[in-house]
Parts: sequence; structure tokens; C-alpha cells
Amino acid sequence: TTATDDTLRTPIVAVLGHVDHGKTSLLDKIRGSAVTAGESGAITQHIGATAVPLDVISEIAGDLVDPTDFDLPGLLFIDTPGHHSFSTLRSRGGALADIAILVVDVNDGFQPQTLEAIDILKRTQTPFIVAANKIDTVPGWNPNEGQPVQQTMDAQSDRVQSDLNEKLYEIIGELSDNGFSADMYWRVQNFQANIGVVPVSAETSEGIPDLLTVMMGLSQRYMKEEMEIDTSGPGVGTVLEVKDTQGFGTTLDAIIYDGTIRNDDTIVVGGLQGPIITDVRALLRPRPLEEIRTEQEFEQVEQVAAADGVKIAAPDLGDAMAGAPIRVIRDRDRSEVIAEVEEELAEIEVTTQEEGVVIKADTLGSLEALSSTLEEEEIPVMRAEVGAVAPRDVRVAETAGEPTNQAILAFSVEVLDDARDLAEQEDVELFEDDVIYQLVESYDDHVTAIEE
Ligand code: GTP
Ligand code: MG
Repeated sequence: TTATDDTLRTPIVAVLGHVDHGKTSLLDKIRGSAVTAGESGAITQHIGATAVPLDVISEIAGDLVDPTDFDLPGLLFIDTPGHHSFSTLRSRGGALADIAILVVDVNDGFQPQTLEAIDILKRTQTPFIVAANKIDTVPGWNPNEGQPVQQTMDAQSDRVQSDLNEKLYEIIGELSDNGFSADMYWRVQNFQANIGVVPVSAETSEGIPDLLTVMMGLSQRYMKEEMEIDTSGPGVGTVLEVKDTQGFGTTLDAIIYDGTIRNDDTIVVGGLQGPIITDVRALLRPRPLEEIRTEQEFEQVEQVAAADGVKIAAPDLGDAMAGAPIRVIRDRDRSEVIAEVEEELAEIEVTTQEEGVVIKADTLGSLEALSSTLEEEEIPVMRAEVGAVAPRDVRVAETAGEPTNQAILAFSVEVLDDARDLAEQEDVELFEDDVIYQLVESYDDHVTAIEE
């Protein structure tokens, strides 16, 4: 990535929304357009993260973006698969993303994960816009590949225009039902007070110039000051995923949002049993698009600067948690950095009590989100942990005094077979879901049934 100003980092954009509403397709299209624009070398597809430099954005956006109006280096998009929780995207003091795109299928409207995303955006006060996707599926649509949306809308028949407008106003209505004043993006003057809706198609690229223009404009206008960082200091980041990578053992897919990480750094990472102190063995990045067919999937790099995605290989990462902090020690005091990670882990507020249910979640962020929902509903929690449901969780749930508390709420995690058997045997109720409010709802139904 070529930075236009060393002290301004790339804004982090989370792309979220319900399953199949088109998050990945939108990002693929942005990457693809960049390749067709002859910019493949400039674009790197990272681990769930895509860095798009300013010159590529202005190439795709055409007349809509004049690169001399901007001094931010570009945008870093993070894809969040629908089955994964967006709440992984946490950082010290709130959301990892500076800004978000909420993708909504125009035909499908608001769905459970759309609502869940809205809740989290609200809670973390993350500014966002709505991409009303799949406009090409309106019956009778006449596609105009890659065109700005108002242009292509004007070129449709009256019937098609009114059909699409109806769907768009439904989305605007849903936003308003959820407490957000919203309008078509071209009518929005103040993006902090109103949510802009951008009609797009990930199939035909219509509206993608608008989407990039709005994101770039928003970041430049409202976020520039927050982007001013020391890009050479010791890195700070968040773990997105912990996974095995062939030849490297357990690795971390991470986003570095401050400073740099180098391949000879010692890092502190949040783990299940507390901070893990380990030496980076390699920093890996997927090869640029045009080299994707080469033997090795990843290339090693010496250093990565914020904001960017990277795969970190290091020993002892087995206990690392998705959503946990990463900090580089370098020339800093070791115990001070460890204390910071400990503090951050403690900050992730999960209030537990002597008596209550057991909750398990896939990431620290989702554990936090689930726990705050339960707190609002005044459902007490006895034990809260990241990871699969194991027999010992059943043993804990079993000890609850109230029958309603002899329950495990599992969010987006596996239930081990022996744990399932044991739960059945011990009459511990198991609830599993990928949507927080659905999980809590089914638990509520269970409580009502017991009380009746
Ligand atoms: P998850 O990652 O599973 O949450 O889904 P996603 O939001 O990433 O959706 P994805 O991009 O995988 O798209 C789902 C399906 O919708 C795919 O079959 C896409 O081809 C299709 N699709 C996405 N965007 C559009 C669009 O603008 N128009 C049309 N016609 N199809 C689309
Ligand atoms: Mg996807």
C-alpha cells in the first residue's frame, strides 16, 4: 500500500449484513474492478480484509472522486461472513471498524442478522451507510455495467423505477423503525445525523462508484483526525481468527490498527488462560490476485503497518482467542505491555454472579454482546467463556440452584458430543444459535414453560 501521508492510516470499513445479502460479492466486485482497471498489483486481498488504495478508488469511481480532494491512503474493507459474529471486530474501547457498510438485499429487506448488526452498530456508535444490494434483480431491470446509480436509475422504465423506489423506501422505513433517520444518499447533507442508502448491484457493479465515493467522503470528512497515528510505533491489533495454516501450525489472522508489526517482534496476545507472550516466526500475506495460482498461497513479509490485515505465525498460539488484543513489545517495557493486555481482557465486561446460566461464544466480542443482552433482560450469568461447549460446562450448569439456570446458551460454537450426552443425562438445557436475540428468545420461552 502506498501511503499518501505517513501519519494518516487507512480507515477500517466493516462490511456486514444478513447471510447471502451480498457482502463478499460486493468486495469481490471492488477487487475485480480494480483488476480490470489494470491495478491488480496495487491491490492485495488479505485475510478477510481487502486494502483498496485511493488511486484505485478514484479509478473505479470515475468522475465521482477527484483524488486530490483526499489525503487518506484508501480504505481497508473487512468481510464478516454472516455466520460469524461481527462483534469479533472489537478494539480497545469499542469497535475495530471506523465505519461500516450494512448490506441489505432489496428483495429480502431486514433479516435477523441485519437487526443484530444494527444493534451492535448502535452500541459501538459506529457510523454506517446502507448498501441496498441486488437492484439488478428488479424485474425488467436494464443493466448499465459499472455506472453511477442515479444515471442507471434514470435509464430504467417508469415501472422499474417505481418498483425499486418502493423497495428502497421499505428499507428506509425499517431504519426509521430502528431509530435511524435515513434517506437516499444523494439527499443526505449530514451523514452523522442521517443514514445514507446507496442502491447497488454486486452483479453489474452499478452503484459501486457511489458506494466508494460516499465511504471515502465520509472518512475524509468525519474521521481524519482519528486516522492521525504514529505508523512506526509498536503495533496494536485484534485477532480475527485463530486457525491452522499448513507448515506454520496455529496462526492468527489479525488486523493491525496502530503502529507496525515486524517479523522479529515479540508480541503479547490475549489467551484463554491470560496473556500469551511469544515471538513472531513469520508474517504472512496472501499473494496478490494475479499470482494466486503459484505454489505457495502465502508470501512472507518483513513488516506490516496499520491499518492492514496479516496472518501471524508464532509458537504457543493454541489458547489465543478471536477478538483478543495483540500488542508488540519491541522497545517497550515487557511487564507494562502484558499489563495493558490484561487490562484490555478485563475491560471486556462480562459480569458473572454466584447463580445463573452458563454462556459460551465463539469470540470475546460476541461473548460481550451476548452478556450485555442478557444483562438488559436481567438474566444472571454464572460462567462466561470463549470456546466449544465441553462436559465441564455441563458440570457447572448442573450446580445452579434454580432449575431455570441449569442451562447453557451457546452462541456460534460447537457442542462436543460428550457434553451433549452429559447435558441430556443431567437435565441441563442446551440452547444453540448464531443470532443472539434468537438464542435469548428460545431461552425465554423455556423459562416461561418452566414457570407455567
Ligand atoms: P455470507 O458470507 O454467507 O453471509 O453471504 P454474503 O453476504 O457474503 O453473500 P454473497 O456475496 O456470498 O452472495 C450470496 C448470493 O447472492 C450469491 O449467489 C451471489 O451471486 C448473489 N448476489 C450477491 N449480490 C448480488 C447482486 O447484486 N445481484 C444478484 N443478482 N445476485 C447477487
Ligand atoms: Mg460472504
